[in-house]
Amino acid sequence: MFGSLILKNPVLTASGTFGYAVEMAGVLDLSRLGGIIPKTVTLNPRPGNVPPRTVETASGLLNSIGLDNDGIDEFLCNKLPYLKTLGTKIIISIAPKNTEECLIFGEKLGLVTGIDAVEINVSCPNVSGGIDFATDPKLCEKIVSTFCRVVSLPVLVKLSPNVSNIGEVARGAEQGGANGISAINTCLGLSVDWRKRCPRLGNGFGGLSGPAIKPIALRCVRQIFKSVKIPILGIGGIETIDDAMEFFVTGASAIQIGTANFYNPTATIQILDALPNALNELGANNVAEIVGTLDL
Ligand SMILES: Cc1cc2nc3c(=O)[nH]c(=O)nc-3n(C[C@H](O)[C@H](O)[C@H](O)COP(=O)(O)O)c2cc1C
Repeated sequence: MFGSLILKNPVLTASGTFGYAVEMAGVLDLSRLGGIIPKTVTLNPRPGNVPPRTVETASGLLNSIGLDNDGIDEFLCNKLPYLKTLGTKIIISIAPKNTEECLIFGEKLGLVTGIDAVEINVSCPNVSGGIDFATDPKLCEKIVSTFCRVVSLPVLVKLSPNVSNIGEVARGAEQGGANGISAINTCLGLSVDWRKRCPRLGNGFGGLSGPAIKPIALRCVRQIFKSVKIPILGIGGIETIDDAMEFFVTGASAIQIGTANFYNPTATIQILDALPNALNELGANNVAEIVGTLDL
């Protein structure tokens, strides 16, 4: 479905909202998920941004975690062995800073088994320089093509909504050799404490997620659907079967659940359970039959 990546179902968990899965193991049957995308890893460990790192907003969550992680070596050594046992697809999320880092990531990934695909996070709004590849189609194409040359795994590219033409950036990723587009990452935002005249997040600006961004995410998915031939993983404010179906008809072949995992940790399973009836309502046998069928 996404290159050689074939999912048993189209419901996955989004990077950064599901830990490294072990945290959620007591809450739901992880083997039922179509796939798990653990927290983004960088080449070297990162301490992340100063707290507070999250603040609730109307129908949303604003975060500025800043890609806090222990680096790729620690991930491959200590997190991957557990993830491999879960009976679902493991899509590792990486954030290379430049093309040189792409080559090093490629070398390291070539030495391990148990990773089913890679999602390149070119779109984190909370790290300096983190978004450049997602704002320029040519840069996006370059980073993706560099990476695709050195890995044999299917490659997904996660895009930012904080651009003027997301369809063009998606085309860059497609031309670079991506097998799928994940959209969207968080929307750049700001929460203010006017009495203190300061931002509520330690880092100032942050990334908005949750129900508040669903209309933006749907708009982006539609624009990408009209711009590329590769399949799309829709992300942004999805919690219920209705949200999921909206993304499928808009153009997503699969979906990722993010912020909903924090307040409804079984949202993924609820969507999976409700999917057959919802498809039936449209007279469809499977998701593929309804992808992109929106009248727009
Ligand atoms: C606390 C938090 C941490 C996140 N960390 C990452 C990350 O490490 N890598 C990434 O690609 N996206 C990250 N995201 C973005 C989500 O994967 C997702 O794209 C975004 O939140 C929109 O989906 P949602 O509205 O369902 O949460 C993070 C989101 C949140 C809320």
